[in-house]
Amino acid sequence: MNDMVDRLTIAERASLTSGSSLWRTQAIERAGIPSITLSDGPHGLRRQPDGADHLGVGHSLPATCFPPAVALGSSWDPELVRRVGTALGVEARALDVQVLLGPGINIKRSPLCGRNFEYLSEDPHLSGVLGAALVEGIQSQGVGACPKHFAANNQETDRLRVSAEVDERTLREIYLPAFEHVVSSARPWLVMCAYNRVNGVYASEHRWLLTEVLREEWGFSGVVVSDWGAVSDRIAALRAGLDLEMPTSGGTTDGQLVAAVEDGTLDPALLDLAARRVLRLVGRATTSDGTGFDADDHHRLARDVAGQCAVLLKNDGVLPLRPGTSVAVVGELARTPRYQGAGSSQIVPTRLDDALSEMRALAGHDLPFAPGYRLDDDQPSPALVEEARGVAERADTTVVFLGLPPDAESEGYDRTRLDLPPHQVALLREVAATGTRIVVVLSNGGVVQVSEWDHLASAVLEGWLLGQAGGGALADILFGVVNPSGRLAESIPLRLEDTPSYLNFPGDPGSVRYGEGVFVGYRYHDAVDGPVSYPFGHGLSYTDFGYSDLVADVDGRDEGLRAEVSVRITNRGERRGQEVAQLYVSAPGDVVRRPVRELRGFRKIALDPGEGTTVRFTLGWRDFAYFHPVRRSWTVEPGTAVIHVGASSRDIRLSIPIKLDIAAQSERLTPDSPLEAWVAAPGGLEVLLREMRPPAHTGLARSRFLTGDSLRTMGSVPLRRLARFPGSYLDPDRLDELAAEVNAKVQP
Ligand code: BGC
Repeated sequence: MNDMVDRLTIAERASLTSGSSLWRTQAIERAGIPSITLSDGPHGLRRQPDGADHLGVGHSLPATCFPPAVALGSSWDPELVRRVGTALGVEARALDVQVLLGPGINIKRSPLCGRNFEYLSEDPHLSGVLGAALVEGIQSQGVGACPKHFAANNQETDRLRVSAEVDERTLREIYLPAFEHVVSSARPWLVMCAYNRVNGVYASEHRWLLTEVLREEWGFSGVVVSDWGAVSDRIAALRAGLDLEMPTSGGTTDGQLVAAVEDGTLDPALLDLAARRVLRLVGRATTSDGTGFDADDHHRLARDVAGQCAVLLKNDGVLPLRPGTSVAVVGELARTPRYQGAGSSQIVPTRLDDALSEMRALAGHDLPFAPGYRLDDDQPSPALVEEARGVAERADTTVVFLGLPPDAESEGYDRTRLDLPPHQVALLREVAATGTRIVVVLSNGGVVQVSEWDHLASAVLEGWLLGQAGGGALADILFGVVNPSGRLAESIPLRLEDTPSYLNFPGDPGSVRYGEGVFVGYRYHDAVDGPVSYPFGHGLSYTDFGYSDLVADVDGRDEGLRAEVSVRITNRGERRGQEVAQLYVSAPGDVVRRPVRELRGFRKIALDPGEGTTVRFTLGWRDFAYFHPVRRSWTVEPGTAVIHVGASSRDIRLSIPIKLDIAAQSERLTPDSPLEAWVAAPGGLEVLLREMRPPAHTGLARSRFLTGDSLRTMGSVPLRRLARFPGSYLDPDRLDELAAEVNAKVQP
């Protein structure tokens, strides 16, 4: 199909690189080029009937609402996520959708980001591995996936204009690696660029991001599509590497491209390149096979998956609920579930389970219930509180459903507070005062503060937004039909003030400074050794796992370095359960300030009581690397790294040091290197002593800048500037030659 471009007019080529409507690409009937449909995404299909508008979020064809990314991230299970992706691919085909706009793999920089429910984690490794699994699943069905939003789209405030001011090291270590992993391992058909600017340049016009990094470094060969309405200057965007503008501009920007080609200001080869990429995408796409999908089967899958995503934060043994325990249920969210977030990812589910009915079904009898609060009212209702106290008083255990009301978080705006609505916390206190044992079940798309109330609860189950079958999954966990196995993909801070981006979120007018650098999430909490309510990676099970026999074998050197790590995990309890073994690396080196430890591997495994297994990880050179801000390349420092394996970022069970066989890299000297670097370089001092020789009449043996204290004081002065100082006795015209002489000794 590629040669087809040559047979198209310039106007036709331009039209291929933008949409024909909200969701479709442009067909060119004369040339037999069909149009394809793109739809949200990411956790279900929002297939709008043709002609529907973007804001008509509630008007799409029914599709299975799988657990949103906030929940999938907590599964820590790429196999499970791949199954979800496959089911999404099946539904896309059934609904005649050729591209699914997801997954969202932006990093959760602040718990306040209104769209965190659409993102997987605060950690790039976890986001990358799970994002890749989702892409593989979707694309296994011949449907294109489209990781988004590239890049540094970590807030909703002013999202169409704000400039994320973020240094390259931080981009490379935190905000880009998930995209890098997904692109290089799962080969998505598309990548969606973000709305925002990155260091002053719109992502849609960011040549460094869209071409140099994405294509030239990572080898991406698919289509870069704009976020919906992200194009500001179509010609600049095309030049930067954006292939497809969505949605349609009604032909306006196509006309601009044609005019620019005709007046010679736009290289026609760039337009052809974009048109070819879109044609290749259209050629890959398959139309619906008309077989539909099995909604019952997918609902069951949604329940199974949700059961593996909820995170048991705390449990003194009250869970699972035992037969014979008298149980009451409090909280409107038990009856009216929040199961997905608001905005473009909001879909019309095929059905919807609520936890209350599902708990009653599993209990086999009625359970007393009181709503306790209204979801559409932020004021306490004394009558509802009194009713809740009434049911709780008569129960051994009361399961209290709390969470964020639907309008507290959404695409399009950020949250302003971390806590639960105060009237819900007040209700919890009232219910707890009756003496009943409390189990709290949370429904929220972004992390909420738990520190002010979790001491009142015997157990806390973080239910996130769990999709259309989440109610059943919560009941399964509460009654022990399912053993919880979710782990936190983000830290739960004690207070908002403890979060690393607190002073820089959502920024000043027009820009947001990523002042915390690479210290996002647990990387920050660990660096300052600060307390958290529940750490990254945490999650309880109804059984208990032991860790032993950590072994690490290192082989190879420099970029060929590999470490094979194995550890034995044993189920020491009495139930089958799943553990997530997490591997963190503390890497050597003090050239830049580095996180205390970083997640570099994880495995979720299921074990019967008493069963043990050996889990293996392979680490490569990059797992020990940081991005050197001056060299602008990945760098590993020689020395000793420590491999940690544990059940959370703060529950490290075993650690082992390994020696990294890495050649020390000395900086190449230039005339602008400071005096101290010249002195430290092998042979450098010798050269300076030779050159910085005062004339005989001074009676000095050497320049005073090379003696004791003076050397220390002047150490930071670049040699070029020192050469200008009276008394340096250094010839400014010889500096390049001298640098070459010393460099030749170090790296001949
Ligand atoms: C969102 C994207 C979404 C697109 C199409 C945008 O507003 O940021 O994530 O895919 O709309 O609905």
